[in-house]
Amino acid sequence: MENYILTSIINKSIRLTLHHIKMKTTPLNKPVTLLAIPGSLRAGSSNHAILRYLSTLAPSTIEYSIYDELVTIPPFDPGLDNDEPPLPVATLRQLLADADGIVICTPEYAFGVPGQLKNMLDWMVSSSSLVDKPVCLITASSVGENAHASLLLTLGALSANVIEEAALLIPFIRAKMDKEGNITDAVTAQSLNAAFTAFLKVISEPAD
Ligand SMILES: Cc1cc2nc3c(=O)[nH]c(=O)nc-3n(C[C@H](O)[C@H](O)[C@H](O)COP(=O)(O)O)c2cc1C
Repeated sequence: MENYILTSIINKSIRLTLHHIKMKTTPLNKPVTLLAIPGSLRAGSSNHAILRYLSTLAPSTIEYSIYDELVTIPPFDPGLDNDEPPLPVATLRQLLADADGIVICTPEYAFGVPGQLKNMLDWMVSSSSLVDKPVCLITASSVGENAHASLLLTLGALSANVIEEAALLIPFIRAKMDKEGNITDAVTAQSLNAAFTAFLKVISEPAD
């Protein structure tokens, strides 16, 4: 109960902070867009729950979407990796290219990156969709260290701009949320808030 109260107080204060970040708009007044990608396909995924939690922190001036189509990305085939790749790949490349920032939140499987997430990243190597793209990287797992390190390497190979203050490893994730996916651990909520605030600062600029 005390944890819940502390978490909600922290959330309230961080929400106030986030709503005071002035978000940039393009010359055409296009809103800032964030694409959030969960690395787990599991129904009831804790990583998906974290991405939903971050969506509640995002100021209303930004468009925050969770990409739910990871399962549709076919196995990587260099022979099909050209200007006209399979439709789900082409669609995702465009979504990534159009986004102002990417949030990846993933577990670790067998000391590595979940296969479907790594498969998706392999399709992005030949495109420039992630070049210089600000990325908030969250690995939420039982331990997660290997997947986190491996993703930093892979995202480096893709020339993505992983924001240091927005790279977060959360171990023992299942013990830090309830069955509905609410974060019950105040320290975890605070770390997520801090990482996401830092990320939003990077992709924002003064409106005046
Ligand atoms: C096949 C399998 C392998 C796993 N291997 C690891 C592992 O190597 N390291 C780790 O930290 N967690 C491992 N886990 C535990 C997951 O991190 C944990 O189930 C996590 O909650 C999954 O994320 P999700 O809740 O978003 O689906 C594994 C889970 C499965 C199903």
